[in-house]
Amino acid sequence: QNESTVSITVVGASGDLARKKIFPALFALFYEDCLPKHFTVFGYARSKLTDEELRNMISKTLTCRIDKRENCNDKMEQFLQRCFYQSGQYGSEENFVELDQKLRENEAGKLPNRLFYLSIPPNIFIDVVRCASHHASSPTGWTRVIVEKPFGRDSESSAELTRRLKQYLTEDQIFRIDHYLGKELVENLSVLRFSNLVFEPLWSRKYIRNVQLIFSEDFGTEGRGGYFDNYGIIRDIMQNHLLQILALFAMETPVSLDAEDIRNEKVKVLRSMRTLKLDDVVVGQYKGHTKGGKSYPAYTDDQTVPKGSLTPTFAAAAVFIDNARWDDVPFLMKAGKALNTRRAEIRVQFRHVPGNLYKRNFGTDLDKATNELVIRVQPDEAIYLKINNKIPGLSMRLDRSNLNLLYAARYLREIPDAYERLLLDAIEGERRLFIRSDELDAAWALFTPVLKELEDKRISPELYPYGSRGPVGAHYLAAKYNVRWGDLSSENS
Ligand code: BG6
Repeated sequence: QNESTVSITVVGASGDLARKKIFPALFALFYEDCLPKHFTVFGYARSKLTDEELRNMISKTLTCRIDKRENCNDKMEQFLQRCFYQSGQYGSEENFVELDQKLRENEAGKLPNRLFYLSIPPNIFIDVVRCASHHASSPTGWTRVIVEKPFGRDSESSAELTRRLKQYLTEDQIFRIDHYLGKELVENLSVLRFSNLVFEPLWSRKYIRNVQLIFSEDFGTEGRGGYFDNYGIIRDIMQNHLLQILALFAMETPVSLDAEDIRNEKVKVLRSMRTLKLDDVVVGQYKGHTKGGKSYPAYTDDQTVPKGSLTPTFAAAAVFIDNARWDDVPFLMKAGKALNTRRAEIRVQFRHVPGNLYKRNFGTDLDKATNELVIRVQPDEAIYLKINNKIPGLSMRLDRSNLNLLYAARYLREIPDAYERLLLDAIEGERRLFIRSDELDAAWALFTPVLKELEDKRISPELYPYGSRGPVGAHYLAAKYNVRWGDLSSENS
């Protein structure tokens, strides 16, 4: 056979994710010449649109990189000409037969490869996968399906979803996205660890006192309450985004950079984790607040949220990895919406210097003298290490300074969106950044008991004002393990 072609079908084409992330990412890849020579993009959704109407809709969210505005409009036009639309019901075999016909026409006899991106609610995943696999999968090339979370709500429902997906797809056709794995600094974690002699030897309980994984947003669930209320922040952020970062941070050295070798190590570390207990979890929910004459809504003010909902919009947890490397090192996670800032970062606090000669320069608070490595995933991507330094002058006074790698200053280029990398990997069949089903099972095993307990006991979340630093319970949880949240210390605020 001659040349091959890739058809990318975005199921749920008119949804938010498709418009804001998927189409713009595909365009960025096209602009960068990363897509295969022959490709087409199909939008599939229920609304009746023409190809032209789809193109119109997509064109509104396409952007050019700041440093690459040249020919951008021409490129957009070329890209849009490769976009087509098929309207159909999500569970209609017939409509998928029609889609298949259109795909064939565009493939024009080339070796057809097909990628489906399911940008739809989970209750229709299986219908779509069934119809697509029966009627629209590639007869001779590969067929791959990208799915977005939620992958169930607990161990049981997740296993059931996997079981049903596997009635129609093999494991290597399923690409489960966790878009945090596509973020530049998360991708860089392994490089930082495994190709710098100065870090790897320190990466264990011997030198690391605690690790903090922090996610905060300065807006609430506005408009997404309907989805969010059934999941809550632990399922929305911790069980996936933060835990994935933790796995990459804490795993042993993989045999190679192959997807299976990396994912094997991630599963191993996840399976070494101690099941989380209720005592080690704090939950919160934001309440209305007026600041500077402006009022901010409570979570339960959202029309789509049931009155009296106990769903957490904030959670902090202390988790442990029971293996030789991390025995007894607290990994503290914190995730919240409607906080004072938008930020995602990893903070590594190192132990005290034994017999520190300069002890007296730090007064009584020796914690202030410990090194801290911060990996800021967003915004303003950066890696910096807090060190102690002599203040220049005749007296011996010390302070803390940052050894800084600020991406914006060091690399004069825009950082690609996470979805660009992930889509490209899916097209190329690179599975490293996608979640394998045993990884997913291990991630659920850690959180399921505590999630059930929170719900069964109807634990009330601690209320915190919209735009604040979150519930005070998070401090007590950290203090229980002798930890102070690095992001809340005065020098970092
Ligand atoms: C999503 C969550 O997975 O990640 C959202 O469902 C959250 O609640 C989002 O807002 C955050 O992603 P990012 O890339 O904007 O940090």
